[in-house]
Amino acid sequence: METVCKIVDSNVNSQITYAQAVDILNAGEVVAFPTETVYGLGAVATNDEAVKKIFKAKGRPSDNPLIVHIGTKEEVHLYIEYISELAKKCMDVFWPGPLTLVMPVKPNVLAESVTAGLKTVGIRMPDHPVALALLQQIQKPLAAPSANRSGKPSPTEAIHVKDDLEGYIPYIVDGGPTGIGFESTVLDVTHEPPVILRPGGITKEMLESVIGPVIQPSKIEQTMEETPKAPGMKYTHYAPNAPVYLIDCDDQKVQQAIQQLQAQQHKVALLAPASFEHIPTDFYFSIGQTGSKEEMGASLYHALRACDKTDATIILVTATSTEGVGAAIMNRLEKAAGGKWYTR
Ligand code: TXA
Ligand code: MG
Repeated sequence: METVCKIVDSNVNSQITYAQAVDILNAGEVVAFPTETVYGLGAVATNDEAVKKIFKAKGRPSDNPLIVHIGTKEEVHLYIEYISELAKKCMDVFWPGPLTLVMPVKPNVLAESVTAGLKTVGIRMPDHPVALALLQQIQKPLAAPSANRSGKPSPTEAIHVKDDLEGYIPYIVDGGPTGIGFESTVLDVTHEPPVILRPGGITKEMLESVIGPVIQPSKIEQTMEETPKAPGMKYTHYAPNAPVYLIDCDDQKVQQAIQQLQAQQHKVALLAPASFEHIPTDFYFSIGQTGSKEEMGASLYHALRACDKTDATIILVTATSTEGVGAAIMNRLEKAAGGKWYTR
């Protein structure tokens, strides 16, 4: 299959691209498009054959449900059986934006494979001009997981989608790099108090200032759960080819680790803030200015993917605190590292 990639920005006539994307989606095919978090791989959420093509292109296990994207807040009533007061508040304040709400799904409206047999569905209104234009032109809900091969870091640029899915999907809408750089917060509002199933750009603190107490299970609580509530979280994720190790954000510790690893014939890729650039290593990728979690979030997946273009045999990533969006960043890094920390 040929994969066409079209840029949309103010310099080109984007109308043709949107029209093509809408036609392809309406014909039951998949299209990759940018959101404010990461690129999504979309299909019309009411077309089961089309949605199945997402799972096939990604190599995604079919028991992992998809997020449904909508172009207006009002549409949520078409797909959701019951919207609590608390959910309404979240939508008022955080939509459009990086917050997915898990709510009871109306039976027989969305394609079966979207919900993977659950009685709930995750739904969000993205805050990105390209995603919103596409949704508003097609006037249908789009099921869209991140547009990566299953297990790889989510794509934050169209080229990442191409690297993973070229030949598997017909069309990519290229809207440039995404802003936030990691996936939305998934909040289950079918529980009281609501539970954060996946931390993201909308933090626990931000949610609590609007709806009161919210539960964010600790890492230990998550691993103890027999059936994870967000089925996707049980799979290996966000991982480059070489093994990843977390390390304290400490100049000396990092230097020492690199020396030890190189003495064992390793080729080391270091992912660390700009202030670590002077440290001798085989490959270095910046994850923003020291202390800026926003920059770290926005550059993380790009940096993890960049390691796959090198012959690094081991990857060291400096950790950050779990304050604010740090919770989401550390959640992704812990997964990329499979929980491994570098200790000598
Ligand atoms: O930012 C994002 O959320 C991106 C963009 C494209 O919107 N999408 C995304 O989708 O990250 P995906 O499929 O890669 O991740 C969806 C997560 C998975 O962990 C899945 O298990 C969980 O949300 N999820 C979806 N529906 C659910 C449901 N009904 N109950 C519990 N978890 C659900
Ligand atoms: Mg994903």
